[in-house]
Order: sequence, then C-alpha cells, then structure tokens
Amino acid sequence: MTTALPMLSIGPHSVQPPVVLAPMAGITNAPFRTLCREFSGGKGLFVSEMITTRALVERNEKTMQLVHFDATETPRSIQLYGVDPVTVGKAVRMIVDEDLADHIDLNFGCPVPKVTRKGGGSALPYKRPLLRAILTEAVSNAGDLPVTMKMRKGIDDDHLTYLDAGRIAVQEGVTAIALHGRTAAEHYGGTADWDAIARLKEHVPEIPVLGNGDIWSADDALRMMRETGCDGVVVGRGCLGRPWLFADLVAGFEGTGAYAAPTLREVAAVMRRHAELLGEWIGDEARGVIDFRKHVAWYLKGFSVGSEMRKKLAISSSLDEMDAHLSELDLDQSWPVGADGPRGRSSGNGRVVLPDGWLKDPYDCSAVSADAELDTSGG
Ligand SMILES: Cc1cc2nc3c(=O)[nH]c(=O)nc-3n(C[C@H](O)[C@H](O)[C@H](O)COP(=O)(O)O)c2cc1C
Repeated sequence: MTTALPMLSIGPHSVQPPVVLAPMAGITNAPFRTLCREFSGGKGLFVSEMITTRALVERNEKTMQLVHFDATETPRSIQLYGVDPVTVGKAVRMIVDEDLADHIDLNFGCPVPKVTRKGGGSALPYKRPLLRAILTEAVSNAGDLPVTMKMRKGIDDDHLTYLDAGRIAVQEGVTAIALHGRTAAEHYGGTADWDAIARLKEHVPEIPVLGNGDIWSADDALRMMRETGCDGVVVGRGCLGRPWLFADLVAGFEGTGAYAAPTLREVAAVMRRHAELLGEWIGDEARGVIDFRKHVAWYLKGFSVGSEMRKKLAISSSLDEMDAHLSELDLDQSWPVGADGPRGRSSGNGRVVLPDGWLKDPYDCSAVSADAELDTSGG
C-alpha cells in the first residue's frame, strides 16, 4: 500500500517533501543552501540567514552579498529581521520591486541578549500590537510573495506568546508559521517541546504550521509530523557538517532507500566542495577557506582524526593546504556510530534580558526602542 506524500504549499510554491532548511546566521548562505539542495535533488525549501531590514534598505555591502542567490535556487527564500514596521515594509517592498526573492520569512525567534535587550527577536511577539503592525506592513507590501514567520514559544514559561502570535498571523494574512518549540529563556538547552507544535496546529488550522527543534535524522522528522500533526519540518543544527541530511529527509518522506552513512573520504570531498563554493561566492579563495573553518569540527564529528590534524584543518587558508591535510587523514573510516545525534549549540540560558518594564503590559509599546534594529545582517 502506498500512502500519499504530505503536501505543503507556501503560497504558490509547493514544497514536497515538506522539509525546510532552517535559517542559520553565518551558515545558510548560498553555498551551504546549494550543497543541501544538491543532496535533496532540488526538493525542499532553503532559507537564507537572517537579513536585517535596516541594513537591506540602506544597501549595506555585506547584506547585499547575503541576499545573493545561486542561479539554481528556486524558490528563493529570504529571512528578514526587523523591529520597525515602516522599515520592514520598505525592505519587503524593495525585495518585490527588485525581484530579490520568491518568499519572505520573518524572524521573531532570535534569543541573543543584544537583540532581546532592545525588545527585538523573541521578545517582540510579547508586544502584540507591534507584532501585528510589522505583519501588516510586511504582508501589504509583499504583493504576490508569500510571507511566513518563525518564532519561539515565548519569552519564558510564564510569558508564552505563540498562540496569540499565531492568531495574529492568521488575521494579518501570513501564509505559514514555523514554531521552534523552546522559549527564549531556554535558548538551545533541554529538549524542544513538540506538544507546543501540536497545540499551535490545533489553534491555527487555517494555515500550515511547520515544526522546528531537535530533528537530527529523517526518522525524527517523520516522528514530528506524526506526533504533532504539523504540515512540514524545519531542520537546523542537524545539517551542520551534514548537508546530506537533506538526502535522508527526502528518502525518509518518500520511503525510498537507506540513509547516508558517508565514509571519511566522501565527507572530505563534501568539505572540499563546501570550501570551494564559499570561495567562489565571496570571490576570494582564501576568505572562503577561512569562512569554512567554523564547519570543520562539525564535518569531522565522531571520526578518529587527531586534535593536531583538526587544528591544522581549522587554520588552513587555501584549498591546496586543505587538500594536503585532508589527504593525510585515514579516509577509509566508515561513518562513526553516534555521529547522527545532536550537534551545534546546546546551551541553556535561563534569563532573558529585556528592556525595563517590558513585561508589564503586552499592549503598551512605548518601551520599544528604534535601535533594536541591528545594523548588520547574519549576526
Ligand atoms: C548557528 C545558528 C544560527 C541561527 N540563526 C538563525 C537565524 O538567522 N534566524 C532564525 O530564525 N533562526 C536562527 N537560528 C535558529 C534555527 O533556525 C532553529 O530554529 C534552531 O536551531 C532550532 O532548530 P534545530 O533544533 O533543528 O537546530 C540559528 C541557529 C543556529 C544554531
């Protein structure tokens, strides 16, 4: 018996299987998205790292590079971060007018103190009128482009916002919502609360809900779909140093074939290609290899590669140097047991830094600071 594949539509874009690469600052640039997309055979949706709306409308040089998509990328998904409704509206209008993307995602999940301290990111949905104003501006300027949003459960367990935010999103014409099942206070610690994803799905049956948090394998993705009733999954840290997880996700949803278990030789070839793509994208081989350094430990996780060699790879500054070090490894090693588990950030936080008096009144927006906007993207 064959079961129908779940179908996800983000506006006019059908995403099948319903798998989305989570936006990750400093990671999900065009080279990394391209790698993941190659492994998925072009299936799925791959979102850019967050782009600050002010930096975009001011045409900041770094930001203009971050909004670059490879010619093979379609649909093009840009994630925006902003706190000022007018600036968000202008950024969305610019994306439409200049044909910079096919889909816009709004980030309301960032938990970093420099953002929440000013009432931005995951602090923002607490101020319901501000959230509504940003969504109104975004949707009304987006024309035919679908606008989605990504958020956390709330600030902490005593200040949950996701159900209210979900309802506001529906009222304002948002196309789909992704929920990371943690509060800002939890940061990346503990376990994502998938029950919250199920509750949001029940609360906003009108639009697709995408579940996010702690998907480390294709089986996790299928389990999240089953257990929460969500319409699709958003996968972040599981892909770090493991872009072939997208091949597994497709295989898992389509019920075809075994999951990837690359040898170190195959991993080394992906590392080489990732570094090369970064160099091409930046327009400078050395800077590409330097940017790649942050990925080395993730790719090598679990393999027996001595600390000396890891260090050498993590300080390489040319492709030739990287090649030389990679060729010295015991490349016949098979995929390490346990390397499919958690990776990337896992720390908790505990306290969310907020502007004075922020929690007093969810409807009073007088404490919102205009400089809660960041002036650079991807941070
Ligand atoms: C390095 C890193 C950068 C991130 N940057 C962003 C970002 O720019 N925008 C965003 O909405 N979420 C960002 N996130 C959060 C992820 O999109 C995702 O919600 C989170 O990692 C939980 O999903 P996971 O358990 O699959 O990793 C980032 C996470 C990490 C680890």
